[in-house]
Amino acid sequence: MAQLFRPSSNTIAKVSIVAILLLVGSTFAVAYIIDRGPWITSVRIAPAQPILFSHKHHVKDDGLDCRYCHTSVETSSYAGLPPTETCMTCHSQIWANALLTQPIRDSWASGKSIEWTRVHDLPDFVYFNHSIHVNKGIGCSACHGQVDEMPLMYKVNTLNMNWCINCHRQPEQYIRPRSEVFNIDYVYPANQLELGRKLVKEYHVQSLTDCVTCHR
Ligand code: HEC
Ligand code: HEC
Ligand code: HEC
Ligand code: HEC
Ligand code: HEC
Repeated sequence: MAQLFRPSSNTIAKVSIVAILLLVGSTFAVAYIIDRGPWITSVRIAPAQPILFSHKHHVKDDGLDCRYCHTSVETSSYAGLPPTETCMTCHSQIWANALLTQPIRDSWASGKSIEWTRVHDLPDFVYFNHSIHVNKGIGCSACHGQVDEMPLMYKVNTLNMNWCINCHRQPEQYIRPRSEVFNIDYVYPANQLELGRKLVKEYHVQSLTDCVTCHR
């Protein structure tokens, strides 16, 4: 019987199988990278805002505490955004005629609040609570990074489930003394694990990884 396939067909078949596997593999890899990358998660990309509000100027240069504007962060699930009135306590006098602060005066005159674009926004099926984190010694910068270096606000973490659970599994890696929660320049000490384990005991911190913690 005549040979249906030449001996070289074997090699061709093998090579093409490998090639197809590589193609499929790399397609998944690219999809994964895009899914986890800044294009989807918008990490490190500052969205446009109605006013060029700078945390760098207000926190670093002017020394304002987070609680001056995010008043409910210690007591409720929301950190909250400041009303126009908070801006006006200063901007009725400083930069009071500048173009950059005009939208503040427009909002004040019309009574319509400033429509900030959300930077961090979890899906509705996820429950989050600021006060518990703050009261258990998790600092703002552990989740939001060096906001005092941000001329415009952006995210430094993906806020995906693994990120949350990674800390819930081992809070001793991230916990700090309560007095340091608002310290945006806080540096973890060399003996973090030792200190962390001590604080976890002292503040009765649990490792909450049950689904219902965040999906209720
Ligand atoms: C003078 C008022 C003021 C102070 C002080 C201030 N913020 Fe803000 N913050 C704002 C305003 C206004 C916004 C909304 C505009 C924006 O996103 O930049 C905001 C937005 C944010 C956001 C993003 C909110 C979102 O949409 O997801 C975070 C996170 C944040 N602030 C953290 C902090 C931290 C941490 C501190 C202290 C180190 C701080 N802020 C101090 C006024 C302030
Ligand atoms: C405690 C006083 C104070 C409060 C409250 C305050 N600002 Fe300012 N703001 C300043 C000072 C001081 C400057 C000048 C900062 C500089 O140039 O270093 C400034 C500058 C600005 C500028 C000019 C651009 C820049 O960053 O230099 C904008 C815009 C602005 N603030 C928006 C806001 C908004 C919006 C709020 C309310 C969420 C607000 N500010 C609340 C003190 C304040
Ligand atoms: C454990 C991580 C974590 C810590 C610690 C944390 N935040 Fe947040 N923050 C988040 C998440 C997640 C969101 C988005 C919440 C949502 O979409 O419901 C958020 C949203 C915000 C917002 C937008 C308004 C709001 O309440 O949703 C502000 C402002 C803010 N954080 C400020 C702060 C400040 C100030 C601190 C420190 C006192 C702080 N955060 C500590 C994770 C954290
Ligand atoms: C850097 C550490 C850290 C990160 C990141 C973190 N958490 Fe937590 N979370 C904690 C600690 C510590 C507690 C307190 C545990 C306890 O009650 O002892 C906590 C508690 C909670 C609780 C319990 C609140 C309650 O009322 O029982 C919820 C819900 C929660 N976290 C949701 C989230 C979600 C959602 C994310 C991600 C978007 C997140 N956390 C990210 C450290 C973290
Ligand atoms: C510490 C908080 C936390 C815990 C605990 C947690 N999740 Fe999530 N989960 C999240 C967050 C945050 C998201 C949103 C992720 C995103 O937007 O990428 C999420 C998303 C999801 C989704 C949507 C699919 C996806 O990946 O976006 C499913 C399904 C889910 N979680 C199931 C579970 C199950 C099952 C458990 C228990 C084994 C669990 N989660 C425990 C925080 C949590």
